[in-house]
Amino acid sequence: MADLPKRVLGKTGFEVTTLGFGAMELRGGPHGPEITDEEAERVLNAVLDSGINFIDTSIDYGRSEELIGRFISNRRDEYFLASKCGCVVDGQRGEHIHTAENIRRGVENSLRLLKTDQLDLVQFHRSLTKQEFEEEGALQEAMKLKDEGKVRFVGVSGTLPNLVEQIEMGVFGAFQIPYSALQREHDDVIAKAAETGHGTIIRGGVARGAPADWNRFYYMVPSETMKDRWEVAKLDEMLDGMTRMEFMLRFTLSHPGLSTTIVGTKNPDHLRANIEAAIKGPLPAELLADARRRLAS
Ligand SMILES: NC(=O)c1ccc[n+]([C@@H]2O[C@H](COP(=O)([O-])OP(=O)(O)OC[C@H]3O[C@@H](n4cnc5c(N)ncnc54)[C@H](OP(=O)(O)O)[C@@H]3O)[C@@H](O)[C@H]2O)c1
Repeated sequence: MADLPKRVLGKTGFEVTTLGFGAMELRGGPHGPEITDEEAERVLNAVLDSGINFIDTSIDYGRSEELIGRFISNRRDEYFLASKCGCVVDGQRGEHIHTAENIRRGVENSLRLLKTDQLDLVQFHRSLTKQEFEEEGALQEAMKLKDEGKVRFVGVSGTLPNLVEQIEMGVFGAFQIPYSALQREHDDVIAKAAETGHGTIIRGGVARGAPADWNRFYYMVPSETMKDRWEVAKLDEMLDGMTRMEFMLRFTLSHPGLSTTIVGTKNPDHLRANIEAAIKGPLPAELLADARRRLAS
């Protein structure tokens, strides 16, 4: 099989595969699907065996960090490792605290679980304002952890409107941003982040599998809205032999500002299909232009 294409993750200078791996699907119950240790070990090794070299996780993703540490820390030089900060170790669901103390505690806990000396990227999990980053010393502490070598780059999981200010701050290496054919509000700001030298890590790139099954739960845009957008644009007419998921992933990969998209899956067949689609790369230019026209109207 051909190699997965790579792009530079902005000013970090790392060459990352355009298909990355979102490890939220390893979180397990009660907030995600159950996953056994054997399944986690298999999917994580399959990710690395395919050549995928970017993994995104978080303190907030249940057992995800622990499973990565347990099963692939022996292959640590094969992947760029991104986690989050601001989350609270053993905290309430959704709880985030932006004090210096909590940032340090979270990163040190991630390093322990992930069995590594250094995170390649730590991303603020919440899309804060400049004032919120700074008022209790969170950003300053993240930068201190960088100076100490515990993290290589600091980034943000950013969304509009604060993402514009975050880009202008000029201190972050990369931004994680939601985007897909069915969720295009961040289209322009992804381009802006890339033009200003930032890496862009796209999440939600296959709309959580919704086009393959409109009954799937989606937390940012309801499935019915996604389905409406798909049907109004008559995207089934554009597939030309592709599955809906191949179309979705290749549409996302067509964004010139994208460095990588961290598609999550715990299903080895879905992983294989996503790898094959990523190797094919962006959609043909004419098809993409037509799809964008239809979605815009
Ligand atoms: N605020 C934040 O920072 C934030 C929020 C959410 C997510 N994230 C990160 O972004 C990553 C991805 O985001 P996401 O989970 O929102 O969106 P996503 O990658 O678009 O969707 C993942 C979902 O799509 C399904 N899927 C993947 N490939 C498929 C295929 N070929 N056919 C059918 N279904 C498929 C997966 O289910 P199966 O397991 O059944 O394949 C999974 O439930 C997460 O893992 C996490 O690392 C960050």
